[in-house]
Amino acid sequence: MNILLLGSGGREHALAWKMSKSHHCDNLFIAPGNAGTSQFGKNIEISVTDFEGIKELCLAEKINMLVVGPEEPLVKGIYDFFQKDAALQHIIVVAPSAEAAQLEGSKAFSKKFMQRHHIPTAGYAEFTHDTFEEGKKYISQHSLPVVLKADGLAAGKGVVIAVSYEEALNVFEEMIINKQFGEASSKVVIEEFLQGIEVSVFVLTDGEVYQIIGHAKDYKRIGEGDTGLNTGGMGCVSPVPFMDETFMQKVEEKIIKPTVNGLSKENLNYHGFIFFGLMNTNGEPYVIEYNCRMGDPETEVVMPLLQTDIVGLFAAMDNGTLVDANIEFYPQSCATVMAVSGGYPGEYKKHLRISGLADLQLEDSIVFHAGTKQINDEVVTNGGRVLTVTSYGNNITEAVIKSKKVLEQISFEGMNYRKDIGYEFV
Ligand code: AMP
Ligand code: GLY
Repeated sequence: MNILLLGSGGREHALAWKMSKSHHCDNLFIAPGNAGTSQFGKNIEISVTDFEGIKELCLAEKINMLVVGPEEPLVKGIYDFFQKDAALQHIIVVAPSAEAAQLEGSKAFSKKFMQRHHIPTAGYAEFTHDTFEEGKKYISQHSLPVVLKADGLAAGKGVVIAVSYEEALNVFEEMIINKQFGEASSKVVIEEFLQGIEVSVFVLTDGEVYQIIGHAKDYKRIGEGDTGLNTGGMGCVSPVPFMDETFMQKVEEKIIKPTVNGLSKENLNYHGFIFFGLMNTNGEPYVIEYNCRMGDPETEVVMPLLQTDIVGLFAAMDNGTLVDANIEFYPQSCATVMAVSGGYPGEYKKHLRISGLADLQLEDSIVFHAGTKQINDEVVTNGGRVLTVTSYGNNITEAVIKSKKVLEQISFEGMNYRKDIGYEFV
């Protein structure tokens, strides 16, 4: 099979690494990819939202399967674009339809979906410009902290946990009146703050049945001890010790099954990943958010722990045999530790030379590139999150120690990484 993977982050490097191991994978193309993905396939300089460019590439390279990494092409309707075009219809597309991708693309849509299907989530209300005054009143009567969410995609910056009424009202005005995120904040969801520990569960579904392919806990804050600004993710661990059978069973019965049944009942066309962002509140799972894609850096621990052939699973999802798939996991623990640019998640420099990569002797570790670029024979930084080191261990602590040892041998100007990933599980 010829496979095209869209995206350019650590998630895509981990997917490329995993897919290239499959005997179903003949040729792999990555658009646009990074310096890491080119070890497993051919990078093609096409944007993930250039659907016409992607079409041309699919026809020229006789692509049989399209795998989509990031959310933007999903929400913009890449699945529907392929379905509507007679020349592309035969291609297996691992993605939900644009309508179903609103589970990620619109917070209001996903909250209503959860309400309709009695899926546990924080209580909420939604407001627009027309109901701005009512929204202010709602906020002033709400308990603190209060969570404000821009309805649409806002590059991970659309959620604010306000600890005072003043802050909440300011954020609300910024989003609705000053259009902080443009159209994405023309509607705002205001919801209860859930106390607990976060964990993410990953599922593949054909909209009728599902298979759980892994779970992970990520570390979002830039600073050690979970302090400072939110980032795209500074590291991840899996499996998570509190994800025992009792809790997993609750997640399946109360959340995963009603979600997949909801997709089926509402005829929402779905052939792809669901990322359940969950809060464990006193042993009960609540949905914080749905994503229609894999997480980054969650993928960088989920793929290394998944023993089953992922391309085989994609094919099974397409031909209606997903229910029969045998999902197997490696028995170890995995941790990934992300190296980021100095200044990230604020301003940072790009195109800084990364040294140490060529001399690494890796045993139980894998280096996944996130924001890197090959310029001639040099690998340089090309983003805030630059690369992440995943390691296997007998437990989380051992895996984290191995990743940090590898990171000590890599350097670029301003490089920063959290030394405390997995600190709760020591
Ligand atoms: P999101 O952009 O939806 O991933 O939200 C960003 C982060 O905000 C989540 O990962 C949580 O840490 C936090 N968050 C979102 N909603 C809530 C909530 N209702 N209660 C507590 N934390 C939340
Ligand atoms: N690491 C969180 C995400 O991918 O959304």
